[in-house]
Amino acid sequence: MPKFRGVKRWATILSALFLSSILLAACDQNTPSILNPKGPVAAKEAGLFWFILVVATIVFVVVEGMLIYSIVRFRERPNSPAPRQIHGNNTIEMIWTIVPSLFLFAVLIGTIYTMFNLSDISGQGRTLQITVVGHQWWWEFDYTNDGIVTADELVVPVGTVIHTTLESQNVIHSFWIPQITGKTDVVPGHSNDKLFKADTIGTYRGICTEFCGLQHAHMSFLLVVKSQSEYISWLHNQQQAAQTPTSGAALAGYKLFTGSGGCVSCHGIVGVNLNSSDLQHLTAKYGGITPVGPNLTHFATRTSIAGLVLSWNPQSCVVSTDSSGNAVIQNQSACGLYQWLHDPQGVKPGNDMQIRQLSDTEVAELVAYLEALN
Ligand code: CUA
Repeated sequence: MPKFRGVKRWATILSALFLSSILLAACDQNTPSILNPKGPVAAKEAGLFWFILVVATIVFVVVEGMLIYSIVRFRERPNSPAPRQIHGNNTIEMIWTIVPSLFLFAVLIGTIYTMFNLSDISGQGRTLQITVVGHQWWWEFDYTNDGIVTADELVVPVGTVIHTTLESQNVIHSFWIPQITGKTDVVPGHSNDKLFKADTIGTYRGICTEFCGLQHAHMSFLLVVKSQSEYISWLHNQQQAAQTPTSGAALAGYKLFTGSGGCVSCHGIVGVNLNSSDLQHLTAKYGGITPVGPNLTHFATRTSIAGLVLSWNPQSCVVSTDSSGNAVIQNQSACGLYQWLHDPQGVKPGNDMQIRQLSDTEVAELVAYLEALN
């Protein structure tokens, strides 16, 4: 019997360690926390969390305290008399019905108050209208009144109220930026509105938080919060049509992009296969273009690709020429865009980028072209 008890003790310790390792695996420094809010909406939500935690802690301490006290104080001793029977005692039953109801009522009031207050935010400047479209598996951001469309990165000015309209073309997704605002479902055939504001300049991770298929876990995005003046210059740049390269690998990449690469059948670039008035609409509404892939007009200004699966930085994708005059990427393993164009299905199985196998030279030429889209 003592031997069995030892095994049981070790089993308990090991399973506790195993469970805590799962729990602590979430504690990465890049993991956004709702307890580190950077805007008024997330701050109200965090406030509600702390309020409920305090109420729950009071209940836990009082109930467990009474339980432990009773176990010790009223434990059976030799020759102790039978305890007083309190079954059907109206006073006690009233107390243990009314007191928990009051605690639950406090939580209910706090929750309803917070829910109705979440959209009650004010900011500087006009409210920025953005339509957010959930795709499988990336996010599209249509700046409704500014005529630009971006993907994977939602760039906004600090201190400004952002009014998003959430739409989906396929399945249900859910939009969540833990440090800025809570979750709202993104439902096909239905628009949900969501208001939020970022108070601190910085970059915050956004997440899809509704299971939406094979690559649901790879459907993140970035909220990039800039100062008002930096945002204005970013916006003015985004509103320009793309430059067409005139020479070198970038020109070869442009020809591949618009020709045998077939890229333009899914991707739009203003100045190539879109004119700027097309950008008043979502890709979904572009005449004649299947809304499969992200708009790439200013692709080089982004920092990540494929729903944040790969980072993207022109400095790590230097294109040069080899001895036979072909374009090459110097360090293929450091270049996320090379990995993506070389084998998109290997990087993110099931995504819509079903392309023919490109040669390394073709990939290098496409990278050179995409790097020029700044
Ligand atoms: Cu989209 Cu999960």
